Amino acid sequence: MRTVLLDSGPVAHLAIGDYSKPLCGAEMTSSELIDNSPNGFVIENGIFVKIGPTEEIESEFGREGSISLNGRAIVPGLIDAHTHLLWGGDRSDEMSLRQQGKSYQEIAKLGGGINYTVNATRNLSVDNLFNKGKSRLSHSLRNGTTAIETKSGYGLDTETELKLLEAANQLKLYSDMEISLTWLGAHNAPPNMDLNTYVEQIVSEQLPAVLDQGLATSADVFCEDGWFTIEQTELICKDALSNGMDIRLHVDEFSDCNGLALAAELGAKTADHALHSSNENREMANNAGTIQGFLPGTPYVHGSNDWPPIQECIENEYAWSLATDFNPNCKSLSLPMVGSMVTHRLNINPIAALVAVTRNPATTMKRADERAHGIIAEGASANLNILRGTKIEGWCQTPGDTPFASTICNGEMYNHE
Ligand code: NIG
Ligand code: FE
Repeated sequence: MRTVLLDSGPVAHLAIGDYSKPLCGAEMTSSELIDNSPNGFVIENGIFVKIGPTEEIESEFGREGSISLNGRAIVPGLIDAHTHLLWGGDRSDEMSLRQQGKSYQEIAKLGGGINYTVNATRNLSVDNLFNKGKSRLSHSLRNGTTAIETKSGYGLDTETELKLLEAANQLKLYSDMEISLTWLGAHNAPPNMDLNTYVEQIVSEQLPAVLDQGLATSADVFCEDGWFTIEQTELICKDALSNGMDIRLHVDEFSDCNGLALAAELGAKTADHALHSSNENREMANNAGTIQGFLPGTPYVHGSNDWPPIQECIENEYAWSLATDFNPNCKSLSLPMVGSMVTHRLNINPIAALVAVTRNPATTMKRADERAHGIIAEGASANLNILRGTKIEGWCQTPGDTPFASTICNGEMYNHE
């Protein structure tokens, strides 16, 4: 099966230098990231087998049977490297508590927050979870995402954590999207259990069962004052690391707990939220190859003005990325919406923001077939988005709706118009 696309507008291929490395600082806006001439693409078996000027592709493969892009702009398939895709229940009423001035921690103490979702998730079957995931993935794909990370973490007992990973694995088998599984058993102390007892249970029972099941490739911990301490996080992560898992962490969301420094010491692929981390720890993380994964949807829904320090990261040439953090409190799977937040509100260059949702997170999330993604290049996995308009910058300027006419995901074409 061959797909030939001709007559593109500008193509943000982002394929300069070593793709296994993120881009930082001024590299994120280099003019070499975009080819402004009309290109053609040949896709076979989910791979870009040839990319070149339209005339060249047309003379080799012909126009008949090809698809004309009519000058529309092209960007890579987007990569959402931090989501909590699977859970049940509805916490929409927490907004009125926030509007009365209650903090995230206070809402949790009042019976809301993570454990509310845990209670609503424990009685769902794998099938229920799979069906919820299917519908959520279709929103994600419509918004241009072709690879997504998803965490467990709303079970908080061995049985339900395994069930969440099983449902995520079924989605992986069903979908054209690349789905990467992270175990987040250490998301909260479960209802009616103290944190220390739970950590003992995680280490002695839950993590061995997750390893035995063999579905999760990464481990995550919510390392934060009031949740898992640095010592508990280190204990769990070292165990996961020594069993071959990658580390992805929630750190320093509400205060600086030195979580980012621990992420650096552990060689974590990514340390996310990282809102309150010190500059010293940011530098340490950058030197260790740990990306700072910013999640602006979270302060947005919390009604807070604690936006991530992206401008500072660009000035200091630290590697950073963006993700949705889709969860019961932040129900958007749109990376273009995240792009809108940082471009319209934080003055971030739209091309830098694009790199932060494509090439940079791809370096933290290898595909199972090990093909390159997050860029457009010969030999890479065939994922791309066709914008409705003719300008690359349009990828993040339609808050509330997808900017994309179609998405090619793993070689398959999905139309959104
Ligand atoms: O990344 N902060 C920890 N976990 C999620 C939110 C969990 C929830 O509120 O259900 C996050 O924002
Ligand atoms: Fe999260």
